[in-house]
Amino acid sequence: MINVAILGFGVVGSGVGEVIVMNNEKLAKSLGDGIAVKYIFDKREFEGTPWQKLVVHDIDIIMNDPDVNVVVECMGGAHPAYEFSLQAIKKGKSVVTSNKEVVAKFGHELLSAARENGVGYMFEASVGGGTPVIRPLVKCLVANEIDSVCGILNGTTNYILTMMNKYSESFESALSAAQEKGYAERDPSDDINGIDTCRKICILADIAFGYGMDSTTVYAEGITAIRNKDVALAEKLDSSIKLLGRAKRVGDRISVMVAPFIVSSERVISGIDDVFNAVAINGNAVGEVTLCGRGAGKLPTASAMVADIVDVAKNGGLNVSWCSPDETPDGILLTPDQVEDKYYVAFATHDASAVEEQMDVKILSQDASEIAVETPKMPYGELKNKLSALEAKEIKAVSVIRIF
Ligand code: HSE
Repeated sequence: MINVAILGFGVVGSGVGEVIVMNNEKLAKSLGDGIAVKYIFDKREFEGTPWQKLVVHDIDIIMNDPDVNVVVECMGGAHPAYEFSLQAIKKGKSVVTSNKEVVAKFGHELLSAARENGVGYMFEASVGGGTPVIRPLVKCLVANEIDSVCGILNGTTNYILTMMNKYSESFESALSAAQEKGYAERDPSDDINGIDTCRKICILADIAFGYGMDSTTVYAEGITAIRNKDVALAEKLDSSIKLLGRAKRVGDRISVMVAPFIVSSERVISGIDDVFNAVAINGNAVGEVTLCGRGAGKLPTASAMVADIVDVAKNGGLNVSWCSPDETPDGILLTPDQVEDKYYVAFATHDASAVEEQMDVKILSQDASEIAVETPKMPYGELKNKLSALEAKEIKAVSVIRIF
């Protein structure tokens, strides 16, 4: 019997319990052994539910029980989730987590501790929710040098942008709906400011390139500055606005960043709506592979976590590692100002001539109060200089969005 202790019995933790019960026979068949939830670690009692008798409030009961094989960490936040994970690993228990913050910050250390202790540290649900991304990248694409990993990695913001686009909903009401559906983080500013996407793209970059990324210093823009007007224009241009995490090789350097992009409908990820995530991986042998599925929510996230329980119990941990951010060679990461893109820029003016004098642009739309243009490809630093020069002439950019 594989005995599991679930730390944190909120949306995701209770989903793990539900999937283990719902698919118990199927899981036992696949594993050749049963899976049982032995403990739930939570402040609450869950009175009147079948879970009540499993609740403990003392973490040492779990850590000191040799029958607990797998600790499923669904606590959220870096602490004490990191300390509990390390403690469990040192006690010879595998750890399965959905905690992006812990994986992005301490993943290299926890993976190395897991190897030393002969157990697994599994984190499929930390990126893509229910969409398999980590295992395909680590296992199925192992024969490739990875050139880029790019995609929609946050269900909440994709849901908000979809509601703004399809139903002209306001940003605020779409965010409330995402919170009600259990998609958003405890602090939804992590979603809308791009921090959640940043943690996820850093984890994917860690795996793809082997260098540890510091998600607290990687460039991340969110979606709070996106206006309904920008969304409507993107639609007119047969495109959509998506918050993307992008990690790619540029010569012998690497660029990792998060920002909203205008994505043409010719690209698969342009049509990925609602809470769905999609990750396009480019390998030097396979070409492009796109993985798509529900990126947040109770049962989809639990689906990935229960798969990790089965995998670690059956096959042991994943063969993956990366160095700590301190060991990542200086200068390997391009600064945001060095990264080249094309840009959509809306200016609060009806006169295009000053903008056209400053750079060679294509006019996308023009009305009495605004003109919107597409710029040529240039480093972000160069664009900022041009926008400052225009601002000095009182021509203000009211929206800047990269074009993918
Ligand atoms: N808040 C996250 C999202 C949850 O919306 O994608 C899944 O990581």
